[in-house]
Amino acid sequence: MTNVDDDNTPLLRVRDLRVDLTLPSLARRPIIRGIDFDLAAGEALGLVGESGSGKSMTARAIMRLLPPNAETHGTITFDGNLVGAMSKTQLRRLRSHGVAMVFQDPRAHINPVRTVGDFLCEGMVSTRGVSRKAAWERARTLLGDVHIADPERRMRQRPYELSGGLLQRVMIAAALAVEPQLILADEPTTALDVTTQEEVMAILDEQRRQRNLALLFITHDLELAAAVCDRTAVMYAGRIVECGPTEGMHSTARHPYTRALLAARPATTEPGLRLQTIPGRPMAAWDVSTGCSFRSRCPISTTECEHDEPQQRAVGTATVSCHHAQIGVPA
Ligand SMILES: Nc1ncnc2c1ncn2[C@@H]1O[C@H](COP(=O)(O)OP(=O)(O)OP(=O)(O)O)[C@@H](O)[C@H]1O
Ligand SMILES: [Mg+2]
Repeated sequence: MTNVDDDNTPLLRVRDLRVDLTLPSLARRPIIRGIDFDLAAGEALGLVGESGSGKSMTARAIMRLLPPNAETHGTITFDGNLVGAMSKTQLRRLRSHGVAMVFQDPRAHINPVRTVGDFLCEGMVSTRGVSRKAAWERARTLLGDVHIADPERRMRQRPYELSGGLLQRVMIAAALAVEPQLILADEPTTALDVTTQEEVMAILDEQRRQRNLALLFITHDLELAAAVCDRTAVMYAGRIVECGPTEGMHSTARHPYTRALLAARPATTEPGLRLQTIPGRPMAAWDVSTGCSFRSRCPISTTECEHDEPQQRAVGTATVSCHHAQIGVPA
């Protein structure tokens, strides 16, 4: 395995990640247009952006689970090893030990005819070589950890007998069973009602803190990311346009897109007033030609934004891709 570890290497390092897809028409579509971020062991990073901005593709690239028509450039380093250089065996190990995923729709990732207990035990028996009895006991403990009452009964049930919220807790337990260093959670609560959403998020947050796991939390909801993440990266049209500590992002959002996302949230809208929406349509990564991808929706764009794509630069404690980003501009 290609090891590039040094004392400062974070758990996950993504550098100039680019993903292009070749369509059946043979046209090439840039989907991810060069993103960089680091994730330290035990740290939680929120990856936030509108639908189509490239969040899930980023997660899939980290797991090397992109579709066959995808071409990847750049480097992803996990625990000091280049993911792009991993053999099949090493990749299997990455997916069964190093990194675990939790998805939006648990029902799409669980066999509907097997019991919950079988689902949880299968992975442990096949990848860890533990006995079925030991796996069963561990699964029961894990279900207790995610606050599922009467775990023994739940383990004998089939997925359709569990609510969406309970099933998502089962998926969190399955992720923890891997004893990962990193959890990639791709909109794990988007399909749930608000109360259940809060419960599931609280459990994920509690467990990852207790176990000191790193979390890449993908969501379109900036507030939700703020509630659980140390840092937040905002994606737009296949690039990260702002990345910085979550604390303070509300008051010092530096990219106009981040500010627009914050303004569009119901919590910041007075009762009785219409929810502010971001004018215009999201820009697809492959539609970006010259200049800033956000300029057609941006209230402060200038001719410079038409001609030059802004590069990432440090603005205070954040990195921002905007010609007009400054410290101290309130949200
Ligand atoms: N197999 C594919 N073929 C063509 N385009 C694709 C394919 N998969 C994804 N895309 C495109 O890549 C872009 C990024 O997709 P991605 O799934 O990463 O978005 P996302 O930010 O996760 O959005 P969402 O919030 O809706 O989940 C989208 O515009 C999507 O249409
Ligand atoms: Mg997605």
